[in-house]
This record gives sequence, C-alpha cells and structure tokens, in this order.
Amino acid sequence: PIPVILDCDPGHDDVFAIWLAAGNPALDLRAITTVSGNGYLEHTTRNALVACTVAGIEGVPVAAGADRPLARTLTPASWIHGENALGGPELPEPTVALDPRPAVQLVLDTLEASDEPVTIIPTGPLTNVATLLRDHPEARDRIREIVWMGGSTTRGNATPYAEFNAWADPEAVDVVLASGVPFTMVGLNITHQALISAQVRERIAAIGNATSAFGVELLDYFCSTYLEAEKMPEGPLHDPVAVALVADPAVATTVRTRVDVELRGERTAGATCVDLIDILRLEHNATVALDLDVERFWGLVESALRALR
Ligand code: BDR
Ligand code: CA
Repeated sequence: PIPVILDCDPGHDDVFAIWLAAGNPALDLRAITTVSGNGYLEHTTRNALVACTVAGIEGVPVAAGADRPLARTLTPASWIHGENALGGPELPEPTVALDPRPAVQLVLDTLEASDEPVTIIPTGPLTNVATLLRDHPEARDRIREIVWMGGSTTRGNATPYAEFNAWADPEAVDVVLASGVPFTMVGLNITHQALISAQVRERIAAIGNATSAFGVELLDYFCSTYLEAEKMPEGPLHDPVAVALVADPAVATTVRTRVDVELRGERTAGATCVDLIDILRLEHNATVALDLDVERFWGLVESALRALR
C-alpha cells in the first residue's frame, strides 16, 4: 500500500476523507494532522479524533497543527459546517488520544521513519504543509507528492473566484507551489461532480454499520447547509476525491499545467489561475484533476465504509 499522511480540517467531507484513507486497502494511513480552516483548530482537532473514534481507527497518530493561516485572519466556514465544524450528529467523547507532537513534527517523524517517500494529502488550508516545506526544506525528498483538495479551474465558493481552502491561506498555496514537490490540485471543478444524491445517501445508509449511520447524519446536515448557502440540494463531497485519486488514479482524468495563486487581487485573493490553454507558456508546475468517474468514486467510498466499524 501507498504510505500517506492526511492533513485535514474536519469538516463533514474531511471526515469521509479520513474514513476513505483508513478503509481503502491501497493506502497505508500513517498519520493524521489537523489545521484550522472549516473551524478553529480546537474543533477540527476534536472532530478528527471523533472521526477515528466512530470508525474504530486506532494506531494512527493524530496531531494538531496551525491555529491560523500564515498571514491572514481565519474565517471558519461555519455557514457550511456549523459552529463546531461538524454540525448535525451528536459527537461522542473521543476515545482516541491526541498525539502531543505538533503536526509538523509528526509529519517529519513519519517521513523519517518511512523507507519510501510518503504522499501527503491535504484537505484543508495548506498552512501546515507550507510551514513544513518552508522550515524543513530537507524533508522535500521524502515526500512522493502532495495531492490537495483545493483551488478550482473555474469559479470559487468562498468568493466568486476563490475556493475556500485556497482563500483561507493563499500564501501557503504559493509556498507549496514554489517548493518543487510534485503537486496535484483536486479543485472544485472536479469535486462538484461528487454530488451527494438521494441514491448515494441510501447506499451509504444501507451499509448498516456505526460509521455509515454517523456518516448519513453528516451528509444530511451538509446537504441542508449546501442547499441554503449555495442553492445546491446535492452537496459536493469534496475532500475524499483527493484521497480517491491517490488510492485509484483511474478515478479521474488529469492534465499537467500551470497553476498560480492570486495573492493581491482586490476581489480575487485566493483564486487559483490555472492555465489550461497554455496561454502564458510558463513551466508546468502542477497536475490538475478534471473529470471524475462518479460511480467508481462512490464505490471506493462505500467499500471503505464497509471495511470500518
Ligand atoms: C473545501 O472547503 C471545506 O469547507 C471543505 O472541507 C473542503 O475541503 C471545499 O471548498
Ligand atoms: Ca476540508
């Protein structure tokens, strides 16, 4: 299996990303790190522990990272995820303990302990990953690739042009893009193909274990806020798409291209400029996911949930 570290800000869809990373046999989930984004760090960290507790994920260290973006003020996505970043179900008391190391230290230790390069899958703002690459450039060679849910080849969701994870910490996106570590962007353009239809919810409910029961409560809440905030009755389950692409590259088509992030735009800060037509003739610095095999994707999610508790 491919060794992976999941860096997340749970968040409803991040919880499914944790479950997919833990329940898919092609992946070896070595560590989970948390970042502020959908909620304050205290909430996203607790929610990661809750996700592990519900699904019976033990033996994967969970450590807390950045409590704020590199250069901006945090605005949690409470309009989608609720005040505690995991609105909907009653949250159980976590039985999984928090690793005392800071997230960057846990990542460094995990990279060091691995006899092969490790893939990092961030599904929140890139603050932890940028801090790691900035402060520990020697760690770069130990990273196979970074496969990030964030950005967009089209429009945004935090502002008309910026996707939330990019908008929350654009300076971090810039650091990661400049690092030279192989980088894949799994943006809104593809995650909006992973829609939580009524059939999807029924399929997940039919799994019939504790994880799926909790999952359905998450999906119900998430779809209700998506309907209210974005007029989308079928919410897009963004974050697991990045995990799925690592587990099963056939789940999506990709293209090599140029990605830059807008840092100074008056109305466009955090927008990802993706040069799909190569009009700038700049060096290609990223792989960008384009089209999702929707049935294959939900099949991966379903199988992972079945493999959990
Ligand atoms: C991203 O923002 C968050 O609200 C989700 O968890 C996902 O990572 C989608 O824009
Ligand atoms: Ca997220």
